[in-house]
Amino acid sequence: MKFPATGKRPADILTDLESLKGNDVPWQEGRVFAYIYDAGDEAKQLLKDAFNLYMTENGLDPTSFPSCMQLEKDVIGMAVDLVNGGEDATGTFTSGGTESILLSLKTTRDYYRDIKPEITQPEILMPTTAHPAFHKACQYFDLKAVLVDVDDDFCAIPEKMEDAITPNTILMVGSAPSYAHGAIDPIAELGQIALRHDLRLHVDCCVGGMYLPFAKELGYDIPDFDLSVPGVTQLSMDFHKWGYAAKGASCILYKDRAIRRYQIFSYANWTGYAVINPGVTSTKSGGPVAACWAILNHLGRDGYLRLVDESQKASQKIVDTVNDIEGMEVMGQAKINMLALRALDFDIFPLADEMRKRGWYIQPQFGFANSSENMHLSVGYHNAHAVDEFCADLAEVAKSVRDAQLGQERYVLPQELRDFIVNSGPEVMDQLGDILGDGTELPESMVEINNILNQLPADSREMLLGEYVNRLYNPDQQEREPAA
Ligand SMILES: Cc1ncc(COP(=O)(O)O)c(C=O)c1O
Repeated sequence: MKFPATGKRPADILTDLESLKGNDVPWQEGRVFAYIYDAGDEAKQLLKDAFNLYMTENGLDPTSFPSCMQLEKDVIGMAVDLVNGGEDATGTFTSGGTESILLSLKTTRDYYRDIKPEITQPEILMPTTAHPAFHKACQYFDLKAVLVDVDDDFCAIPEKMEDAITPNTILMVGSAPSYAHGAIDPIAELGQIALRHDLRLHVDCCVGGMYLPFAKELGYDIPDFDLSVPGVTQLSMDFHKWGYAAKGASCILYKDRAIRRYQIFSYANWTGYAVINPGVTSTKSGGPVAACWAILNHLGRDGYLRLVDESQKASQKIVDTVNDIEGMEVMGQAKINMLALRALDFDIFPLADEMRKRGWYIQPQFGFANSSENMHLSVGYHNAHAVDEFCADLAEVAKSVRDAQLGQERYVLPQELRDFIVNSGPEVMDQLGDILGDGTELPESMVEINNILNQLPADSREMLLGEYVNRLYNPDQQEREPAA
């Protein structure tokens, strides 16, 4: 699109914006099992109203907008209370799980620079199931990521984590739960290791922070995971996932408030106003924190208990359905609403495409380490009313996908092509046009692409996907007229 020569009426612009959504996944009907957290119409309207009310206010400056600071303090207070942080705990409201994790690792790095300057190559110890945000933090802040294998249920193995500690280790990571399989790491054991070795321990509760406390209260079998566990020093939790807040709402919490001083950027060596930022961003709308404050107060403990209970029941229906499907199984312990489904004797990627034709979105995940390729489902309150229809379609589609493949050879990436890609740089995309397209548009079917990526080493996947996205996110070459 080129810069508009003349302005347009708001009504026309809104029509354009609305029609742009035409190709998006149909999340409004509860048919999308990722990305969306929807607590119903009343809650959504409240989020919009609260967001609007604070959209223009700027959380950058608490002296000008004490209201934004108060909202942040209240939200952090509620979070600390929920995950049993205790008297000394504090935290920072952030834009998302990734920012929370970035801050945690930067803060820890700077703290260790102070107390152990002899560590010049700090290491972060994490299971293979840890979220990529930890790797992003390692890349951004020049930290070494040390990966440790997990067990057959995709949980961290305490002995292996302990064995991987070196004099350079500054922080261990555990997830409660990890995204891919919903596996909850043995946080209590990791805490003991952290205490023995005088390390910090980050519990990634980005998806679990607003879910596990309620699941535990409802009597589900949830191991201890929060800030009250001895040895746990910091915890990330997202409100914009199972807190059902508007996107742009997470927090990083510390059990000891003194360490947060290492997180805060404070700068006065320039000609302008003093910049003091607790988080990554400087100017920030008051919208996300106001919407977050509103939804926490609107739903309250009893509301979240209800949403979690519905999600748990819907998840159990899916688990039961999958257990009855020939050639499929649920991976790991499947204790909560984050599920990974795999096929035992057929190629699972066509399942996503075929389900999509029926209006369902399930998320393909590649094989890595001891996890084979699978389909991820995050099952929320919004999915609960559609779950019976989903289960019926899943059973039918899985059978037809499997039947269609019976007696056929599974796709194997030719060794020559594999070697060629592995030994190439991003320019290899030019030669893969037949399969990947020219990179300017999204492909119709993902089956072949997923199959190829799945059979490449992770480094090559990263290289190809990074290049693909670099080509995709560019202004259209041809003039694109607004849709209306
Ligand atoms: C366990 C876990 N940690 C971190 C993140 C990153 O959160 P965000 O996408 O809000 O940056 C996610 C996202 O799904 C997650 O599941």
